[in-house]
Amino acid sequence: MGKLAKATEIMYHTGLSRKMLKGARFALLPGDPGRVESIAAGIGQCERLAVHREYTSYLSYLKDEPILVCSTGMGGPSVAICMEELARIGITHFIRVGTTGSIQDKIELGDLIVVKGAVRLEGTSTHYAPINFPAIATLKVTNALAAAAEKKKYRYHIGICISSDTFWPGQERYDSFTGYVPKAFRGTLQEWQQLGATNYEMEAATLFIVAQSFGLSAGCICVAVAKRTDGEKVASQTIYMGALPKMISTVKEALLMLIDK
Ligand code: URA
Repeated sequence: MGKLAKATEIMYHTGLSRKMLKGARFALLPGDPGRVESIAAGIGQCERLAVHREYTSYLSYLKDEPILVCSTGMGGPSVAICMEELARIGITHFIRVGTTGSIQDKIELGDLIVVKGAVRLEGTSTHYAPINFPAIATLKVTNALAAAAEKKKYRYHIGICISSDTFWPGQERYDSFTGYVPKAFRGTLQEWQQLGATNYEMEAATLFIVAQSFGLSAGCICVAVAKRTDGEKVASQTIYMGALPKMISTVKEALLMLIDK
């Protein structure tokens, strides 16, 4: 077990302390600070805790269990910083609630994807474990998310994502400033498809590896907001807003299963 901070010590990046979390063990982690309030309100009665850099945080309650909702910003480095600080103030379960680009034709815009493992196409996680160590979600968290989506009868998939440090070249997007994708990434979208991977995003590999290295738990659920078998663009905000209640109610149901354990 790592070192917990003193109850009143304020963490440098997130602006949070152990006292502010009121014993919360579970954290929901969207990337976007702008999505924190609506997710927190969807979980239950909530209060704003802090707004620091990319880290906006609210505390919600589910039954009597305090649930932290905190944005991570985009990409591995800011996820790892967030997790280092949240672990020191008592968080033991990290659940990413994000957005993603599907790479399989059967995955439609607005579908949920429960991510069970991640390709480490990024650098941050290599600071915590060598690259040949697998990035895998905690089984009981993954099972709870999948069982919750199943119970709710939502369209969902369980899959392996590709966590890329870049939105454009690493995800083989050509609609960038230069239009150039380095050789190392050309043809990779097709290769990941062939291997049965389901989606591109930017944070899950770091989340899984850092949690594993801490001896703590992690899971990930995403809404598909781009469909790469049709094109490179991200869909309008309407897709995310339409799917958000489904993601929140799935996570709520999963939390109820995990809290009771
Ligand atoms: N997030 C990503 O990283 N890629 C997408 O295509 C959509 C969301």
